[in-house]
Amino acid sequence: MLKAFTLLLSLITSVSHADLVVMTDRPQARYQNAAQIFLNQTGEKIVFIEAQYPQLLAQLEAGAVADLILLKDLVLVADIQNKNLLKAFPNFTVFNNRIPSSMRDTQNQWAALTYRARTLVYNPSTANPNDIKNYSDLADSQWTGRLCLRTSKSDYNVALTGNLLLKYGENKTTEILTGWMNNLAMDLFPNDTSLLENIANGNCDVGIANHYYLAQILAQKPTFPVKIHFLSQAEDGVHTNGSAAALLKVSTNDQLAQRFVNILHSPVIQEEISAAHFEFPAVVDVLPTTLIKNWGSFYLSPLNWSAIGSQAPLAKEVMKEVGYL
Ligand SMILES: [Fe+2]
Repeated sequence: MLKAFTLLLSLITSVSHADLVVMTDRPQARYQNAAQIFLNQTGEKIVFIEAQYPQLLAQLEAGAVADLILLKDLVLVADIQNKNLLKAFPNFTVFNNRIPSSMRDTQNQWAALTYRARTLVYNPSTANPNDIKNYSDLADSQWTGRLCLRTSKSDYNVALTGNLLLKYGENKTTEILTGWMNNLAMDLFPNDTSLLENIANGNCDVGIANHYYLAQILAQKPTFPVKIHFLSQAEDGVHTNGSAAALLKVSTNDQLAQRFVNILHSPVIQEEISAAHFEFPAVVDVLPTTLIKNWGSFYLSPLNWSAIGSQAPLAKEVMKEVGYL
C-alpha cells in the first residue's frame, strides 16, 4: 500500500515538475544564463525549441506542448493571440509595476522583454532633423527623391503603419504612405541594414529604421555617417515594437512559466538580453547598453502593442492600396 502511494506521489511529482518548454524565435544561447538561474532557484531544467515563428506556430498547431513562447515582434504576438493559443499569466499584476502599460497585454497573456524604436535615420550632411518632427513629415514634397524605405513585407513596417492607423485613421494614413511612395529615392530595400548603407553612401538622405540596426553598425564602425532622430517627441511619442514572452494555452506549468519570466525581468538578465540585440530593456529603470544610452532619453508612444497588432490586416491593405510593396 505504502509502495503504491509512493509510486503515485512520484508520478504526480514528475508531472507537476516537468521541464519548462520555452519556444523562441531568437537564439536560445541568449537565455542560457536565465535558464541557469531558473535551475538554481527551482531545480527544474528548461528545454528550448528554437525556430522562426511560422515553424513554431506549425508545431503548436500540430499539437506540440510547450509553456512559453518568446517572440521578437508585436505583429507575431498579435497573430498567435488571435489564433487563440495563449492564456493569462497566473500573477500578471507583478508585471504592472515593471513594464510600461503599452508593452503589456490588456488580456494578461504577454509582457514585453525588450523594445526598440522605429524612427528617422538621416545623413547629417544633407538632412536637417529639425525639418522632420513626425513620420508624416516624410510625406512632404521637400523629400522627393530623397527618402529610402524598407519593403512592406517586413512586420516592422506593418506595425509602424498600424501605429499610424490608430493615431490618424485610415484616410490620413493612406495620404502619408502615398507621400512616402512619391518621395522614394530608390526601390524599397529588403532590410534596414542596406537602407542605412545607402544613406551613408549618399543615395538617400533620410529613411526609417529600427534603432538597433544603426547601433550594431556603429559598434563596429563608430564613424559611420548616419544619425538617428526620435520622431513625434512633441506629439505622441516614437513608435515602439519589441520582443515579448507569452504564456501558451497548452502549458501545464503556469507558475514555473511565470517564474521564468520574472527571471527574464530581473535587472541583470534585462541588461544582458537587451545588450545582446542593442535593444532597450522593457523593465523600467534598467539602463540599456552604453552606445544607445548615450543617445539620451526619449518619449515613447503610449499606444498598446495589442492595439497596434490588431491593425495589422488593415495596415497590409492600406500599404497594398498605395503601392507600398
Ligand atoms: Fe530585426
